Order: sequence, then C-alpha cells, then structure tokens
Amino acid sequence: MLQNKEIILGVTGGIAAYKAVELLREMIKGGANVHVVMTQNAQQFVSSLTFQTLSGNPVLCEMFRLFTGSKIGHVAMADIADLMVIAPATANTLGKIANGIADDLLSTMVMAMKVPVLLAPSMNVNMWESSFVQNNIQKLKAHGYQFIGPAEGDLACGSMGSGRLADIAEIIEKIEDIFTKKDLQGQHVLVTAGPTLEPIDAVRYLTNRSTGKMGFALAKIARRRGAEVTLITGPNYLSLPRRDIPQIVVQSAREMRDVILEHYQDCNIVIMAAAVADFRPQNTLQEKIKKKSDTYLLGLEKNPDILKELGENKGHHLLVGFAAETSELMENAEAKLRKKNLDLIVANDVTQPGAGFGADTNIVKILDARGRARKFPLLSKDEVANLVLDQVVKLVKKREKDQPWPHNW
Ligand code: CTP
Repeated sequence: MLQNKEIILGVTGGIAAYKAVELLREMIKGGANVHVVMTQNAQQFVSSLTFQTLSGNPVLCEMFRLFTGSKIGHVAMADIADLMVIAPATANTLGKIANGIADDLLSTMVMAMKVPVLLAPSMNVNMWESSFVQNNIQKLKAHGYQFIGPAEGDLACGSMGSGRLADIAEIIEKIEDIFTKKDLQGQHVLVTAGPTLEPIDAVRYLTNRSTGKMGFALAKIARRRGAEVTLITGPNYLSLPRRDIPQIVVQSAREMRDVILEHYQDCNIVIMAAAVADFRPQNTLQEKIKKKSDTYLLGLEKNPDILKELGENKGHHLLVGFAAETSELMENAEAKLRKKNLDLIVANDVTQPGAGFGADTNIVKILDARGRARKFPLLSKDEVANLVLDQVVKLVKKREKDQPWPHNW
C-alpha cells in the first residue's frame, strides 16, 4: 500500500522523537520514499544523521539552507508529497499549526500542504488535557487535520495517562487507512479467526494449530476498506493495530456458533477463517483426570458445522469459507463450497511451505460458486486478505447491479 508513496515525516522536539526512527523504518519497509523534516528541538533528541542514513534522503532542518544536498525546496516538496506525518507532534507544534504560525521549516511546510496531514501528538498528560491544547486540537480537526493517538500509559515525565505517542503499528495502520479506497463502505463483515478449544477436563483441552493470523488480517483490511467489522475469535496471542473492531473471544465451537448466530442478522458478509474443531470430548470432567492406567480412551462427538448452518439460513448473506487441506485441494474445496452453500471458498494446501498455520504468508486459490478458480503465489496474509476482499467487493457490486436499489439483501 505504501509502495511508491512520497511521505514527509516531520519530527518535533519531544522525548518520543526516538520512536520516529522506528516509524521511518516501517514506512520504508512498506515501500514508501520518506523525506524527514526536523525542528531544531527535535535535533536535541535524535541526530539528523540517523534519519538521513535510514531514509536515504537528505534531512531538512533549516529554513534557509534548503538546497544543501537537496534539489527540493519546501514548497516543491509539499507538491510532490502524498502525505505528511508529524510524529511526535508536540504541544508547541500543534499550537503553531492551529494558529497559522509558520516560523520554521516544518511549520512553513505544513501550511503549504494540499495532501492529508496526520498528526501523532505526544506530551505530558497535563499538557495534553490543558484547554489550550484541546482547543487547538478541535481547531485542527475542523481544518481537516487527521490524528492518531495519543495513547495512554506510563509517560517519560514519570506520570500516567494520555500523552504517549501512539504505537508505531497503529500509526502505520492509520497511514494505510488514509491511502485505502473505501470500497466496503456500508457493508458489515463478520470475520471469525483462530482455533476453538474443546475442554477435556479441568486443565486440558483439544485444539489445533491455527493462530488466527489470517482472520485478523481479514478483519483489519475489511475495516481499512471501510466495512463495519465484528471479529469473533478463538483464543489467540495476536493484537490488532486498530481499536475500531469489536472483538469477541470465544472458547469452544458451540460457543462460537452461539455468538455468530447472535450477530448473524446484523451483518451481510461472513468470512469464516476460524479453524473450528470438528469434534469435542463427549464428557468434560470437572476434575483433573488422573493417570491411573496405561491407556485412556477419549470419546469424541461431532461439533455443529457452523458455516453449513449459516448456508442453510443464507438469506441476504454473502458467505466465504476457508478450506485448509492436505490433499485433493480443489476437489475438497469445491465440495465444501457446494455443501455449505457458499459464494466463495479460499483453498490452501497446508502442507506447502509458507502456507500452513501460524505463518505470516499463505498460498491460496479462490473458488467462486460459478466454478471459477483464481490461483495466487506465496503472499503475505494481508495481501491474501486484500485479494479475498477484492472478490467480495465484486460480488457485492454484482448483487447491487442485479438488484438495484432498494435491494432487499
Ligand atoms: N467450519 C465450520 N464449522 C465446523 C467446521 C468448519 O463453520 N464445525 C467452517 C470453517 O471455518 C471453514 C469451512 O467450514 O470456513 C471449512 O472448514 P474445514 O475444516 O476445512 O472443513 P470441514 O467442513 O470441517 O471438513 P473436513 O474437516 O472434513 O475437511
């Protein structure tokens, strides 16, 4: 998403300036070309050489030495940029921008910007809560400036509260969001993720190798593309870089089924990326099982097939399933698509390197109800999520065309 984007990173003089180094690295990793602009105070915290070395571009600091090592002046720079991010943005810088003061290179550049400007404030909690800062924030929002953070937590000054620079992952997600077309606006997507956990006794359970990464990527990208998203997930160790996705954590397949059914009527798209356990122990013992004998026979019974049940009560819903297979990939995937009355199924052969549970990548084939299969190479789970959602958008548009407004789906 950040590929070939020209981003100006403004760094101002707060202790969080050192975190801007990590932010720069993440932007570059995403494919952006980053030009760093620093205030004089920022240079007290981090050397411009650090940013210059990592960005591969001259760092602009002084108003009247613009052309030293750079062919781009501040106004021209504002013209070529796709986005300006100021992280950290101090109370002083926010105040200057809000009140039209342009007395250094950074504040002058902001004023010339015609593209989105994202501000990531960072300061002491009392400063953040002061009416001066809050009034400036309101003013800046009214002028169309975008914000990320601040986060809550321990502050460098020793106090606790709001004022920490937002997490780098959240800043990057906000940048991606700004660049993303909202082609899922108006849709409500329910995504399931992770394994389910079927208790055997007071301390043991049956589960599988799913980590939830694919479902989390789908939830994040569906939200980024404008959908309202509900994430229903089995136990996991992941964190989402977005706070605007309600997340419901469940344990067993039966619990997952109940929660999905509770939310089914509120959504119009369901993506079942969860690896739901097909069986559960017939009896869950309240006590810990003792090893009295050399063998122990565990009786299992079938769990509900949630997606099949949704397919039997499909109504207006668009249903997407996953098929993680170890053999006869397409035959099995197509049979599941038909049996569960799905619109799309994402098939992956989990025996292939890079396509199994827990990986950050996947190799998928997406099959639709008309029998068309699209094959993709090894991609990150974010890229796979985008491809799945591209197919979803196509189906949504087709339905809207076939059933013009007021469509009853
Ligand atoms: N699924 C479900 N409920 C189950 C099992 C699976 O909703 N009890 C969903 C999964 O989330 C996935 C799709 O059905 O989207 C296919 O799951 P998969 O485990 O590949 O297939 P199964 O139908 O369980 O068949 P099998 O395990 O025999 O391959």
